[in-house]
Amino acid sequence: MKIAVTSASGQLGASIVNHLIALVGKDQVIGIARTPEKAKHLGVEIRKGDYNNREDFNKALQGVSTVLLVSGMDEPQKRIAQHQNVIEAAKTQGVQKIVYTSIIGSEDKNAFSPVVQSNRQTEEDVKNSGLHWVIGRNGIYIEPDLEYLPTYLKEGEISNCAADGKCAYTSREELGYGYAQMLTEEKHNGQIYNLIGEAVTQTQLAEAINTIYHTHLTYTAVSVAAYAQERKKALGDFMGTVIAGIYEGIRNGANDVPSDYVRAAGRSHKSLLKMIENYSQNHPQK
Ligand SMILES: NC(=O)c1ccc[n+]([C@@H]2O[C@H](COP(=O)([O-])OP(=O)(O)OC[C@H]3O[C@@H](n4cnc5c(N)ncnc54)[C@H](OP(=O)(O)O)[C@@H]3O)[C@@H](O)[C@H]2O)c1
Repeated sequence: MKIAVTSASGQLGASIVNHLIALVGKDQVIGIARTPEKAKHLGVEIRKGDYNNREDFNKALQGVSTVLLVSGMDEPQKRIAQHQNVIEAAKTQGVQKIVYTSIIGSEDKNAFSPVVQSNRQTEEDVKNSGLHWVIGRNGIYIEPDLEYLPTYLKEGEISNCAADGKCAYTSREELGYGYAQMLTEEKHNGQIYNLIGEAVTQTQLAEAINTIYHTHLTYTAVSVAAYAQERKKALGDFMGTVIAGIYEGIRNGANDVPSDYVRAAGRSHKSLLKMIENYSQNHPQK
């Protein structure tokens, strides 16, 4: 009986697949992807699965004992039904356990809250599925900040509306390791885990980047309204609102929560410096 991972063509899904391969071997792992060609490089069996298509998952989950559901990327209301397609197919196909990648954040206090709410609704749907379940609430990934480094360097600073709020970051690599344990060990069933490392301010983030990259970034706080306006102009209304809402949440403490990573993964979470160092080694600057 096999373990399947949805959105295996994405960076989080791929990391979970790779950590599972190391733990249980290629033959026990199935990748499910909306675009199967993009997941072939993983070297495991790949099946088709678009969250909009319940029938895809009726087929993709045949013979699967445990499924990892990576949260979707669509607008919040659409995601709930998309996730339900996977949960309902899992029920009818006799899957025994479902693990869901949810998110940390405030359900009602900022512009990111609709996304958090949709994740909380799927958490309820997972809990009510009748299957064994585990929920991970992912922290903010560190990688997008590091991909953004050339822009930070051009501007000479990190500037957003987080102010002195602390954010506990994680990485797709740390999440992949943790989810592989949560999928394969029964002791996690019925648990909700905050999957994060230490909480840091944006000033501390700038200092950590400076340490690894030998840069001289500083941090400047701007108002929530000014940041939302600037992000919407740069990224469009939906994504601009989401990103500004995330930093508003950080400002107000939504991402300064206790970590359950050790319980979930069985080891400590990597430090912020270590995550940045690993990223810099895997993505040398041109
Ligand atoms: N914690 C954070 O900081 C953070 C940041 C960004 C996103 N997220 C969340 O984490 C999730 C995974 O992140 P990631 O790093 O893997 O993102 P990613 O590398 O951009 O991959 C997104 C994945 O979602 C898949 N997808 C999109 N629509 C789908 C659909 N209708 N049916 C099935 N699959 C679909 C994509 O498939 P294709 O290859 O076919 O496009 C791709 O595999 C995201 O979906 C989002 O909910 C979290």
